[in-house]
This record gives sequence, C-alpha cells and structure tokens, in this order.
Amino acid sequence: MTANPEVSKHTTSAKKSVPLHVAIIMDGNGRWAEARGVDVSEGHHAGFENLRRVVADFANRGVGYLTLYAFSTENWDRPESEVNGILDLAIAVIAHEAQQLNENGVRIKHLGRVDRLSTELREELEQAVEMTAENTGLTLGIAFDYGGRAEIANAARQLIRDGVPADEIDEAKFAEYLYTSDLPNVDLLIRTGGDLRISNFLLWQTAYSEFYSSETLWPDFHGDHIDKAFESFSERQRRFGKRT
Ligand code: IPE
Ligand code: IPE
Ligand code: MG
Repeated sequence: MTANPEVSKHTTSAKKSVPLHVAIIMDGNGRWAEARGVDVSEGHHAGFENLRRVVADFANRGVGYLTLYAFSTENWDRPESEVNGILDLAIAVIAHEAQQLNENGVRIKHLGRVDRLSTELREELEQAVEMTAENTGLTLGIAFDYGGRAEIANAARQLIRDGVPADEIDEAKFAEYLYTSDLPNVDLLIRTGGDLRISNFLLWQTAYSEFYSSETLWPDFHGDHIDKAFESFSERQRRFGKRT
C-alpha cells in the first residue's frame, strides 16, 4: 500500500527538531541606519530594541539556550562615539529588562571580559546575572567584550594558574575553563546581515554547529525569519564526522 501523502507530511512536521542552543551574530545595525540615512547610533538603538523582542520569540519556540553576540573584543576599535553609544544602550537595556526577564524565568549569563567595562555596566551585568542565577527557563548568554581567541587564551592562562598538570588537560577539562562551562555546544549559529564569517565568535563551541546566514539586517530579524532558520535547521543531517 502506498503511503498517504497527508500522513507522511504530518509525520515530517511532527519530527521537526528545535535547536537546544542557538547563537546569533547580530550583525547589520550600521547598514540598517545607512539605508535610512540616519546616524549609526539609531541602528544600534533599533538593534537593542530587537534584542528585547527576540528573547521571547526564541523562548516561545522551545529553545533552551540563546547566546547573543552584542560586542566583540575588536569592536572597541570603532569610533569612540559609536562605542560609547553601544555601552550606554547596553546599560539601559539591562537595567530596563532584567526584572522582566527574571519574572519570565530567564537565566542571564555574561560571556566575555569584564575588566574593560565601565563600573556601571559591570554592576548592571553582575546584578542581572546574580538575580537570575537560580532560574530554570531560557538561559540567555550575552557575549559582551567577547572574543573566541581571547576566551581560549584566557582558559589556558587559568589552567596554568590553577596548576592543572599537562596530562589532565583534555577537551572536557579545557571546556570547563571557557565562559560557556555550563552551556551545551551550539546547535544552530545564525548570522544576520548576509556575511558568511564567524568574526571571532564561539570558536570552540561551534565545532559542529549548523550555520544559517540571513540577508535580513539584525533590527528586522524576528518572527518569520526565525521560523525560516528553524525550518532550515530541521532539514539538516548532522553527522559529527560519523558515517550515518
Ligand atoms: C552589529 O552591527 C552590532 C555590533 C557589531 C555592535 P554592525 O554595527 O556591525 O552593522 P554593520 O555590519 O555595520 O551593518
Ligand atoms: C560581529 O560583527 C560582532 C557582533 C555582531 C557583535 P562585526 O560587524 O563586528 O564583524 P565584521 O567586522 O563584519 O567581521
Ligand atoms: Mg557588522
């Protein structure tokens, strides 16, 4: 007997897998502003507005971990006024959103260096992390002053400081020293803005991630765009190097 196409269609959609850990390179704020003939600061403002919106979008779709690349170790080299604008926006968004995120059961984590952040930003971040530490809903990783290479170098430094014997350093031990020690590997890495590069994001944790690039600029990326990314993810065959 031939299979009923309606049934097999239903079976396929029922099997759709939702990625456990999604990481996003939130790129395109500058081009968004340029396209509107407005200052880059308005692009970053729109980008942070979108950040608030997408957290719920991902939580509602059953994602367990969402890690967002908000500011890289290289982004300090941008014009001072742009950098200061991003730092101020970050402070405002955390101050404004942390309580609501806490009420929604979101656990906030910071990935990156803290020593170069202003006292105000560091304190806002620390407070948000502390307040939400026991929550069991979505884990929201905020990569701010984050660089994959810096993270790996930092892990090596800490291992040596802790006097870990060379023979005890394997992949699992090394991973304990990364900012992501209590996060699973990334399943789906999304980059908005259309570029096809990693830009120093989660170099270790994306070893077997599925990549998805969207032409949509970050301030416009939500809802249907997320569904399209998940659709693509659910069609991938992940092999992890094995013959399957
Ligand atoms: C990403 O948007 C946000 C940060 C890097 C902080 P960009 O500002 O890089 O946007 P484009 O790439 O110039 O469009
Ligand atoms: C990556 O975007 C960093 C963030 C999104 C925070 P960039 O705009 O800094 O990356 P490049 O310069 O295009 O590689
Ligand atoms: Mg960019």
